[in-house]
Amino acid sequence: MNGSYHTSVLLQELIELLNVQSGKKYIDATLGGGGHTGEILKRGGKVLGIDSDQEALDYVKENFQFSIFNFQLKLVKGNFREIEKIAKENRFDKVSGILFDLGVSGHQFDTPERGFSFQKQGPLDMRMDTSLKIKAKDLVNILTKGELYELFTKLGEERFARAITNSIISARRIRPISTTGELSEIIGHSVPGKIKIEAEARIFQALRIAINDELHSLKIALPQAFNLLEKEGKIAVISFHSLEDRIVKKQFIEWEEKGKGLILTKKPIRPSIEEVEKNSRSRSAKLRAFEKK
Ligand SMILES: C[S@@+](CC[C@H](N)C(=O)[O-])C[C@H]1O[C@@H](n2cnc3c(N)ncnc32)[C@H](O)[C@@H]1O
Repeated sequence: MNGSYHTSVLLQELIELLNVQSGKKYIDATLGGGGHTGEILKRGGKVLGIDSDQEALDYVKENFQFSIFNFQLKLVKGNFREIEKIAKENRFDKVSGILFDLGVSGHQFDTPERGFSFQKQGPLDMRMDTSLKIKAKDLVNILTKGELYELFTKLGEERFARAITNSIISARRIRPISTTGELSEIIGHSVPGKIKIEAEARIFQALRIAINDELHSLKIALPQAFNLLEKEGKIAVISFHSLEDRIVKKQFIEWEEKGKGLILTKKPIRPSIEEVEKNSRSRSAKLRAFEKK
C-alpha cells in the first residue's frame, strides 16, 4: 500500500485541541489513511471513521484490525454531508469531538489513475467517491463556455480563466479532453510560463471542488456536527484553501455570537516550517477549532 497515506497534516496540534480522553467517542469525518484516527485510538478514544472513498476504508480496515476487533473503531463508507444520520445509525450521537481534515489524501493525490494531480498522467477523473457518475472530464467537455469560466473564476479564483476557457473550447472541438496531461498542456499554453504551475493547481482544484461538491458538503455538515457534540465537545477542521476556510471561520463566528460556545483558535493554526519542508501539501493548511458550551 502506498506510503503516502502517512502524511497527516497538523496531526499533534489537532489531537491536542480535541483533548482526547480515554473511553470517549470521536468522529473522524475524513478518515483517509487513518493518521488522525490512529492518534485518537492510541489515547483510548473510540472512533467512528467516515470516508466516501472505499480505498481509504479498505486501507484502514487492513491496518487497524485490532481496534475494529475490540470495538474501538467503526468504519462507514459515506459522505460527511450526512454525518448526523451516519452517526445516529452507529450510536455516535453524543460525542466529545469531531474532526474534518478536508480535501484529498496523499494516497488519492499520488495515485495517477484517480486523476487528482496535474503532475501525473492519468484519466481526468477526480471523484473521491468512485460511485459518483460525473467525472472531471465530463465537466471539461460538456459545460458551456460561460459555465467553465464561472467555475474557474469562482472555485479556482483564476485570473486567466477567460484564456484557459477559450483554449479548452478550441481543443475539445478537435477531440474530447480526457487526461490530466492534456488539460495541463492546454492550461500551460494559456498562461504566462512563470505562473503555469499555480494556474494548473487552481484549475484542477476548481474541478475537484465541483465534482465532489466540496463546499456545499462542508456547509451542511458543520451544523449537523454541532448537533452531535456533547457539552464541551469540540469540532476541529483543517482546510486547504481560502474558500473552505471562509466557511469554517464564518460558521464558528456565528456560533460564538449566538452564545453556543467558544472559538478555540482566535487565529488559525498553521503548520511549522519543518512540517511544510517534510510535506509540501501542508503549506496552505489552516486548523480551526470550536468548543460547544
Ligand atoms: C486529507 S484526507 C484525510 C487524511 C487523514 N486525516 C489522515 O490522517 O490520514 C481527506 C479524506 O477525506 C475524504 N473526504 C473528503 N470529502 C469527504 C466527504 N464529503 N465525505 C466523506 N469523506 C470525504 C477523502 O476521500 C479523503 O480520504
